[in-house]
Amino acid sequence: MEELSLNIGKSKKLFDRARKVLPAGVTYSIRDLEPHPIYIKKASGCYLYDVDGNKYTDYWLGHGALLFGHAPNFLVKEIVDQIEIGTHYGYSHELEVLLAEQVVKMVPSAEMVRFMNSGTEANMYAVRLARAFTKREKIGKFQGNWHGSYDFLHKAVKTTGKTESAGLPSKVIKETVVLPYNDLDGVKKKIGGGELACLIVEPVMGSTGFIPAEKEFLKGLREICDETGSLLVFDEVITGFRLAPGGAQEYFNVKPDLTVLGKILGGGFPVGAVCGKKEIMEQMDHRKNPEPNERVFHGGTFSGNPVTMKAGYITLKKLEDREIYNHINSLGAKAREGIQEKFEEKNFEAHVTGVGSMFCIHFTKEKPVDLITATRTKNLELTKELHRFLLENNVMYLTPETAHFFLSTEHRSEHVEELINLTQKFISERGN
Ligand SMILES: Cc1ncc(COP(=O)(O)O)c(C=O)c1O
Repeated sequence: MEELSLNIGKSKKLFDRARKVLPAGVTYSIRDLEPHPIYIKKASGCYLYDVDGNKYTDYWLGHGALLFGHAPNFLVKEIVDQIEIGTHYGYSHELEVLLAEQVVKMVPSAEMVRFMNSGTEANMYAVRLARAFTKREKIGKFQGNWHGSYDFLHKAVKTTGKTESAGLPSKVIKETVVLPYNDLDGVKKKIGGGELACLIVEPVMGSTGFIPAEKEFLKGLREICDETGSLLVFDEVITGFRLAPGGAQEYFNVKPDLTVLGKILGGGFPVGAVCGKKEIMEQMDHRKNPEPNERVFHGGTFSGNPVTMKAGYITLKKLEDREIYNHINSLGAKAREGIQEKFEEKNFEAHVTGVGSMFCIHFTKEKPVDLITATRTKNLELTKELHRFLLENNVMYLTPETAHFFLSTEHRSEHVEELINLTQKFISERGN
């Protein structure tokens, strides 16, 4: 792999050390880059600064968790104050009550909530709640949807047809029925009589490249669940608090039975949560269900730690101001329209998808609506070249294989205009 035109010598040295002690030199494979990861030293607003002194505009924003950008002023002082009086009590405290009340206030289907530390964990608990409630074991997940790395959900994220991690028991995988996204008839055919505990769905597919569900599709899933007795679970780890104060369920006006939250909820700290109907959530109530085999266990050393709870509470309170959404969503629309226009001017085979403050560039012949259309004609080489080109122009996002971009309140029109101009430059240097 050719060296980048950027000076990233110190990153290279860190990578050489990292490879000796971290498998592949990273803590998450998607953070790897060619020829090696770039090591970040500090971040502020929508900018990242690496160890070699390069400055980048960031469209990855901590995996989409940082709606207010890096280290927002309104949070930093409050968090420092909290750290001084305790990072982790391991007992009950007011901040977890405040954040739970705020989630119930904002998320339309939330009557009760429990906190954990990651989206993966939250999805695991949502599946457990659904299984306990319905007394069914099989679950339905959608092709191309990513829910983290829980064994039962780590399947059909890509089109390889192979198991997507080593170490997944084959019996476990058989319990998960793979369903087609944005295809109600296909879903009905697949689920037949309805022995599924839940249908778990991303209202906007994230890692497949910000492909939104059609509203009618989500409504149809609601009806299917009502008819078959399966629970409808929305994985709103990305869309929660990003698409609207009440997330995708507010945006699409479809209420799930359970909702999985993460990312923005933690105000920049590790978090996950499950919320939903009282009767389902109360299966976690050990006072009401004293028999261990009749309640759904949930716990965790760091669950509900005061730093995350405080950061989450302050963040969510801020998000009651709808002006914030007008700003980030109009920037998103500007980016989608502006970049698509450049492709059309040049008759360049590419499509911009997304909704709200998320957009993705797909070098495909057709506009993707699901995993198949996002991959069938995808020009992977060009996708990687775009990543490299933008990186060399001090624009950062992940991954090289999926050109998807998050926006924050810290991004301005100028950033989006710069991105549109760079994309134009990129395509004008290449024919179609
Ligand atoms: C939709 C969705 N669900 C679940 C997860 C897993 O969350 P975490 O990485 O916090 O485990 C992610 C992570 O990106 C996600 O995008």
